Amino acid sequence: MKILLLGSGGREHAMAWKISKSAQCSTLYIAPGNPGTAECGENINLAATDFDKLAAFCIDKKIDMVVVGPEDPLVNGVVDYFAANDLIKHIPVIGPNKMAAQMEGSKTFAKAFMQRNNVQTPAYKEFSKENIDAAIHYIDEHALPIVLKADGLAAGKGVIICDTHEQAISELQLMMSGKFGEAGNKVVIEQFLTGVELTVIILTDGENYLMLPPSKDYKKIGDGDTGLNTGGMGAISPPAFATEDFLQKVKEKIIHPTLNGLKKENIEYKGFLYFGLFKCGDEPYVIEYNARLGDPETQVILPRIKNDILDLFKAVAENNLGSKKLETDERACATVILASHGYPSAFEKGKIITGMENTEDCLLFHAATKTDETNNLITSGGRVLAVTSYGKNLSEALLNCYVNAGRIYFESRYFRRDIGWDI
Ligand code: GLY
Repeated sequence: MKILLLGSGGREHAMAWKISKSAQCSTLYIAPGNPGTAECGENINLAATDFDKLAAFCIDKKIDMVVVGPEDPLVNGVVDYFAANDLIKHIPVIGPNKMAAQMEGSKTFAKAFMQRNNVQTPAYKEFSKENIDAAIHYIDEHALPIVLKADGLAAGKGVIICDTHEQAISELQLMMSGKFGEAGNKVVIEQFLTGVELTVIILTDGENYLMLPPSKDYKKIGDGDTGLNTGGMGAISPPAFATEDFLQKVKEKIIHPTLNGLKKENIEYKGFLYFGLFKCGDEPYVIEYNARLGDPETQVILPRIKNDILDLFKAVAENNLGSKKLETDERACATVILASHGYPSAFEKGKIITGMENTEDCLLFHAATKTDETNNLITSGGRVLAVTSYGKNLSEALLNCYVNAGRIYFESRYFRRDIGWDI
């Protein structure tokens, strides 16, 4: 099969790595990809959201399947675009359609959906720009801390946990006056839950689903879960607290009501569905849905899946995922993100990366790298590389990650030293 994968981050490098190992993959293209994905297939200089050019490319190269990494193409309707064009509608696009991707694209949509369908989620109220005074009043009466969520996509920065009423009101005003563009026109104000966070992702054909190995990512920039939120500074799989009993509860109280709700509301959902969960006592609560795999969770989930991934994607496209069984590698997996100092605020780019050739027993997934005019590998973003390792247990996997993280260098390299610290 000829595959086109959309995206360019660490998640997409891990997806490209996994797809390239499939016996069914004859050619893999990645649009636009990065220097890491270039080792798994051929990078194509097209944006993942330029649907006209992607369609022309698919026709030209006789692509058999499109796999979508990030949320933007999904929320912008790449699935609907392909389905509506006679020349490409035969090509399956692995991911949800525009309506279904609202589960990630609109926090107000997702929260109302959960409420209608009895999916456990923290209490909330939504407010729009027109009723900002009511929102301020609501904040004034709200227990601390208070969680604010911009309704739309905000590049992972739209959720703010406020420790004081003054901070919450100031953040609300910033959101509603355009800090995240139109994404902040509506804001969800949510109860803060205490507990532990974990990620459960399913792959579904709309009827059947497979639950992928559970994972936990570490979103804060600083050791001990301190400082600003990031896209994720590391991840582990499996988290010990995700016991079989707890995961059964996740199925019964979260996944099944969600899939039943989608069906009841005539929303066809195919592809990955990400449940960002809080384990509060012994109960799971949904903090967010995403319409895609997580980043950096993918860098520990895909290495633990033994199935041929294209076999599973074909089953999604052909609506027979029910005939498939997930085969999981029993080893633990961990990943540590090497980031640019300053991220998630301002940081410098263009630093030369050295030492990758000295690593061993690990997988290196590129997240924000590029090559300069003299072919040096340089940094090109905040989260630069993910260093992933297996271990017979989590401690061994983490030790391998950290030994190898220390072998890679770039000026202003930063990484958390405590991934997995709480497990
Ligand atoms: N790591 C969080 C996310 O992918 O949304």
